[in-house]
Amino acid sequence: MTAILHRPSRTALRRLAGVLRRGGLVAVPTETVYGLAANALDTQACERIFAAKDRPAEDPLIVHVASVTAAATVAELNPAARELARAFWPGPLTMVLPKKRVVPAIVTAGLDSVAVRVPRHPVFRDLLRECGLPLAAPSANPFGYVSPTRPEHVQRGLGDRIEHILDGGPCEVGLESTIVDLRNPARPCVLRPGAISAEAIAQVLGVAVTARRARVLPGARRSGKKTGKAQRAPGLLARHYSPGTRLRLVARIEPAEVLAAGRRVAYLFLSRPKDPRLAALGNRVAWLSESGDPAEAGRNVYSRLRTLDEGGYREIIAERVPGESAFAALADRLGRAAARGR
Ligand code: TXA
Ligand code: MG
Repeated sequence: MTAILHRPSRTALRRLAGVLRRGGLVAVPTETVYGLAANALDTQACERIFAAKDRPAEDPLIVHVASVTAAATVAELNPAARELARAFWPGPLTMVLPKKRVVPAIVTAGLDSVAVRVPRHPVFRDLLRECGLPLAAPSANPFGYVSPTRPEHVQRGLGDRIEHILDGGPCEVGLESTIVDLRNPARPCVLRPGAISAEAIAQVLGVAVTARRARVLPGARRSGKKTGKAQRAPGLLARHYSPGTRLRLVARIEPAEVLAAGRRVAYLFLSRPKDPRLAALGNRVAWLSESGDPAEAGRNVYSRLRTLDEGGYREIIAERVPGESAFAALADRLGRAAARGR
């Protein structure tokens, strides 16, 4: 079975808003990655998200709303949150804040905080306004796999488990939103790096922003099983966003190595390699961007990992990205995709 791919017409949005109001699931485009959305106020609807993704119940969901006013119905917005909202919403920033009572426990994995964001993808915004509901949405992929940045990725990963995909084209950012814990506004903490940097947040708030290092929770596992306690952020799972093919990160890929390697090893460069001999090797040589631009590389990374993963290679060797903050989100996802021990 395959899901219906809806073009974003008025009629389609009205129909999909109806599906969501009745407790159904819709895969939606966002500027970061495609999400699998359900009414955030409906426990049963949210249970369907966990079932479709095979996602552990301990992993809380992000609630998407159309406006700051709507955000205030699900979370307690402190002055710092309002400042960040003014600076970055609509956009790829998720804030963790004390939750309001209307938000069911399934959304927050029983935590007393909720993650909330106002997305900027115009099609998703139209749908949010049309249905008038806060929508809980994790990335629209089977749990632990590479996030979807095109409707066909959703179709391939979840097409036999969901009925509706709203087509909003390829995602503009391509990496999941920055998640910032703002429960204590004097000490904001970035739980997951994204397109909005810790520095940009610090600049708006005028306070230091810390970043949480990834760490594996005891017992955390890539499965639908109970793992004990609620996760603070997906970053806590060392291995995540992973292709099935073994991925290895190296400081630099030498053309000579690529030319000498067997046909079952694929290489992923940060920039298009200059050596013309590599062009003749076809699909097993790929790159994230023409000339090393971090935004372009972020937009392409999941697509490239998928294509290489589907190529049937024994191993994918990828170049590490620079240590600068513009590459922080990309470095985080590549590191996690390469982590061993599912
Ligand atoms: O860009 C994005 O954020 C995409 C699009 C669809 O909006 N969504 C996304 O969702 O990446 P997901 O489920 O893959 O990641 C959401 C993460 C969870 O893994 C969870 O750890 C964190 O957000 N989170 C949610 N609620 C939280 C809370 N109350 N406290 C701390 N972290 C929370
Ligand atoms: Mg995800």
